Amino acid sequence: MSAVDLFTPVRLGAVELPNRIVMAPMTRSRAGAGNTPTDLTVEYYRQRASAGLIITEATQVSADAQGYPDTPGIHTVEQAAGWRRVADAVHADGGRIFTQIWHVGRISHPMFRPDGSQPVAPSAIAARGELYAGAAGMVPFPVPRALETAEIPAYARLFADAAKRAVFDAGLDGVEIHAANGYLIDQFLRDGTNARTDAYGGSVANRARFLMEVTEAVSHAVGAQRVGVRLSPNGTFNDMKDSDPAALFGHVAEALNPFGLAFLHVIEGIGGPQALPEGATPVAPLLRRIFKGPFIINGGFTREAGDAALANGDADLVSFGVPFIGNPDLVERFKRGAPLNEPDRGTFYGGAAKGYTDYPALEPVEA
Ligand SMILES: Cc1cc2nc3c(=O)[nH]c(=O)nc-3n(C[C@H](O)[C@H](O)[C@H](O)COP(=O)(O)O)c2cc1C
Repeated sequence: MSAVDLFTPVRLGAVELPNRIVMAPMTRSRAGAGNTPTDLTVEYYRQRASAGLIITEATQVSADAQGYPDTPGIHTVEQAAGWRRVADAVHADGGRIFTQIWHVGRISHPMFRPDGSQPVAPSAIAARGELYAGAAGMVPFPVPRALETAEIPAYARLFADAAKRAVFDAGLDGVEIHAANGYLIDQFLRDGTNARTDAYGGSVANRARFLMEVTEAVSHAVGAQRVGVRLSPNGTFNDMKDSDPAALFGHVAEALNPFGLAFLHVIEGIGGPQALPEGATPVAPLLRRIFKGPFIINGGFTREAGDAALANGDADLVSFGVPFIGNPDLVERFKRGAPLNEPDRGTFYGGAAKGYTDYPALEPVEA
């Protein structure tokens, strides 16, 4: 039997994938009026339909879930209609697409919130650093308001409502719950941001409670076979830390098993900016052993490193972020061993077609 590689088909919950090359979620800050996907959004994802699975940029579950300019939502009829056009275009070109659903929690500013109120979080602990507030430039992260215990279940329902809109109104194939990179769910998980003394704070089981309630609500709404979860156990982005990532995320992986999710997606870089922080112990191998469903690994992978990770059994699929920005036909380039286009970092966030939909694909090979 030949070894599994990036081109071995695989089933992920409700969807059958022709390859194991996943497009990682990437915020591109190009949504139109009303934070709605535009014609360019449709074209961008359509160009990348040969990915085994596309996971879209993070998408707001509610009007108060935003923390960056021009990021799309999935809480209005117009937004769902915009995502319907994206889903239809990707499907017409033979692809599959999940959307990543998020609430940013403390990584926000009153200017992004419809009523101008303070951002919310598990605890009133501000992130160190600054955020980009459009015309106001860079401003310090504000101190968030700690959610009351009684308010929290409504936030889980926001994720479930967003998932329903994504799957039933927009026709997307599923959703990825964004529990990584220091946003609301991750803020509940890690003890650097969660100092609560109620049922949502303290022990690892209590800190995982919000993620479990979100996963339960979303799975109930659209079926667990259309739901994935993304985690970043060792990530430090957005001023995140935890005193014992292995204990916390080991518990999370175990507690997610009974849902029968489509996948678990873990960021634990092997190179580049997402590399493991110095001195950190890798947690992905532990999660791989504990989690019973399909396991996606991400962070600094090349084609060769991806094939090696699959052959070693470190993961079932590999997701690629930056390589998909510059290479709409990344799958074909990997297949042919062709060189990759260099991504233009100056156009990662914001702007229009430049650096978004204008990267060249390879010429087709003569039959
Ligand atoms: C421009 C940009 C935007 C990103 N936006 C998101 C996002 O919305 N959600 C998320 O979970 N990760 C986001 N990420 C992280 C990527 O999904 C991925 O984890 C990271 O790029 C490492 O993978 P890579 O080395 O293959 O690029 C973003 C990364 C980049 C470069």
